[in-house]
Amino acid sequence: MKFFLDTANIAEIEEAAGWGVLSGVTTNPTLYSREGGRLADFHDHVIRICALVDGPVSAEVVGLERGEMVSEGAELAALAPNVIVKVPTTSEGLAATRELAARGVKVNMTLCFTVPQALMAARAGASFVSPFIGRFDDISEDGVEHLANIVGALRNYDFGHKVEVIAASVRHPQHVVAAALLGADIATVPFAVLKKCLQHPLTEKGLAAFLADWEKVKNS
Ligand code: E4P
Repeated sequence: MKFFLDTANIAEIEEAAGWGVLSGVTTNPTLYSREGGRLADFHDHVIRICALVDGPVSAEVVGLERGEMVSEGAELAALAPNVIVKVPTTSEGLAATRELAARGVKVNMTLCFTVPQALMAARAGASFVSPFIGRFDDISEDGVEHLANIVGALRNYDFGHKVEVIAASVRHPQHVVAAALLGADIATVPFAVLKKCLQHPLTEKGLAAFLADWEKVKNS
């Protein structure tokens, strides 16, 4: 499973890229707004992220009608070769995805919650489908179970093009474990979750012991 960072924060992307584990980035309007992003700077911000990441960078359209999504998507796709256009899983989004895919633009269908939505996204030409886990948990449903259903259903069919599942709305390391065990292609995770995935008390304890013993060697 590949790790994507779910952020629009440049410093976080630089840090994770330095670890050698970053295969892509997903952004959304909320994440950009959280960085204090201004409309006039949006395209430059996407270009900056694309230059830092050796992999797909999802940038989301905000239009609701297919024509708007297609023109926004075409503009975003022209910013850098690794831009993936993020489109919501709606009927207009499906139509836009179909057209963008026909033009050779890769699409990540977002806000995907159910098996039929995922199947339609793949059928319309999406290269990436993003089932949200955490938002199900927020309403007392089992997000991992929904992800399992979507991964299982998509595996049953050949859509005539590569479709990768991005486990999204990841809130903690256990979501990452579940996504990997289910065979999701990618987990897109907030930087805080990525850091938690790396931490283990036995790693810290073991390292402290090694260093303490090395002090004895140095002083011998
Ligand atoms: C995915 O691409 C979304 O940007 C993201 O995972 C949403 O996560 P949230 O439900 O924590 O906002």
